[in-house]
Amino acid sequence: MLAATATAACLILPVSSQVDAAIERNPVQVTNVRWYPAYHIAPYAGWANDPNGFCTYKGEYHFFYQHYPYATHWGPMHWGHVVSKDLVHWENLPVALEPDHIYDASGGCFSGSGIEKDGKLYLIYTGHVDLPVISKDYADRIESQNVAVSSDGINFEKIAENPVIYAPQHPEISQSDFRDPKVWLHNGKYYALVGSRTPTVDPAGTEAQGQIVMFESNDLINWNFKNIIACAEGNQGFMWECPNLANIDNCDVLIFSPQGVKPEGNKFLNWHQSVYILGKMNYDTGVYSHGNFELLDYGFDFYAPQVTQALDGRTIMIGWLDMWAGKFPEDTDGWACQMTVPRELRVVNNKLISLPAKELESLRQNETSYQNCVINKKTSLKNINGAVGELITTIDTKNSFDIELRAGGSEKTVFSYDAKTNIFKINRDKSGASIPTKGYREVKLAPADEINLRFFLDRSSIEVFINEGEAVMSTRVYPKETSTGINFVPRGGEMNIKDVTFYTLGEGFPQPKVK
Ligand code: FRU
Repeated sequence: MLAATATAACLILPVSSQVDAAIERNPVQVTNVRWYPAYHIAPYAGWANDPNGFCTYKGEYHFFYQHYPYATHWGPMHWGHVVSKDLVHWENLPVALEPDHIYDASGGCFSGSGIEKDGKLYLIYTGHVDLPVISKDYADRIESQNVAVSSDGINFEKIAENPVIYAPQHPEISQSDFRDPKVWLHNGKYYALVGSRTPTVDPAGTEAQGQIVMFESNDLINWNFKNIIACAEGNQGFMWECPNLANIDNCDVLIFSPQGVKPEGNKFLNWHQSVYILGKMNYDTGVYSHGNFELLDYGFDFYAPQVTQALDGRTIMIGWLDMWAGKFPEDTDGWACQMTVPRELRVVNNKLISLPAKELESLRQNETSYQNCVINKKTSLKNINGAVGELITTIDTKNSFDIELRAGGSEKTVFSYDAKTNIFKINRDKSGASIPTKGYREVKLAPADEINLRFFLDRSSIEVFINEGEAVMSTRVYPKETSTGINFVPRGGEMNIKDVTFYTLGEGFPQPKVK
């Protein structure tokens, strides 16, 4: 298997050669880089889903992802691995985990987290085993939590004590869906949150409710069940995946990804959602007092985010910039799916805001700026265009307008502001040849005299941060490489662009060698 050979190779080869060797042996290779990101994390080849194990170790950022190295679709899960000194310039490392033990071999090494302890890097992940379906009264899978340890941050060994956490025998906790442990240290003790749900449909036909359960430990190996810290009420989903808890600006923020939330008007239109709740965790009782949930990202593609504390204490989040049940047009190019840019989280006025991590500024190259452009018709500005770049603009909100990105021929991705409703929308119906979900995604903004937009464009993605984190929208797009235009389009009156800056951005992520 790939990781086994990579591990053996570690004894004799430097890391970069191991990666090359792994890529050489890999039956899937990137054959076309037209949509391969310049600065977002993506698999070196093959498939990637959730962020995993995002942490600092010996002063560097380690980031892992759910990975299937042998095809461009989901398969028994491995953990891909990248490392960075600054969250922006990444290096590929060998595959860190592969499914090879009785507790993970059949389904794979599902999501989990990473943490440094006594100079070692610990990964705590879900081993997924599928069981034959006997009847709906029996679990169809076993999901247990397991530990793998590394002394060099590259080679990981699964410990003999595995599994370290099984689903507690508790009338309110499903024995089947029990995954994605997120571990952190608080006042000298380790805590783990695990995604869960209530047991399967009860005789009255009630649907399961998603929930998060908490465990505590002194050593990352022996764990005790503490409590169910939060549970869905009403339309909040039948399973809560990928939990995180972070203390941000003195608030305990719970982040997770509920499955099965039904659309409410134009909200919750994606297949699954990722949300946050603000609250206070009582570590003695395991009781989390909290408010309601709110979306973390209003675009088409965002799921399973993971947070870590930066070396200077900021809370940084990276999400999967894709969505289940979608199409992944890049799968014909030997790879599939990518991550978001790193985002700094803050709590401001009882709301979680997401900002691009300041380190992203180190990717900036050429800058073009204009001030006070008042336009009456569709306009493009000299040197404000590109497939890989950052566009920052402040626009008067008196009149409605569109901004078209990745425009060329009949292609364009349209961002629209409606001055009557303060609704900001993305439409990607014309974003490229094989675009997955069509239609709109939207967010209603607070009334204000102007709107500030900060777009991150990469070869097949656009993320827009609105009003310094009031809302974020992320989407994949698949335009032609030549569709690099940016157009400003007034709708019902002049458009006053108070300022606009475009930076070309450099490559932060290793580019595949295409033969
Ligand atoms: C979320 C998820 C996790 C699971 C992983 C499997 O996208 O379903 O709950 O651990 O993907 O790849």
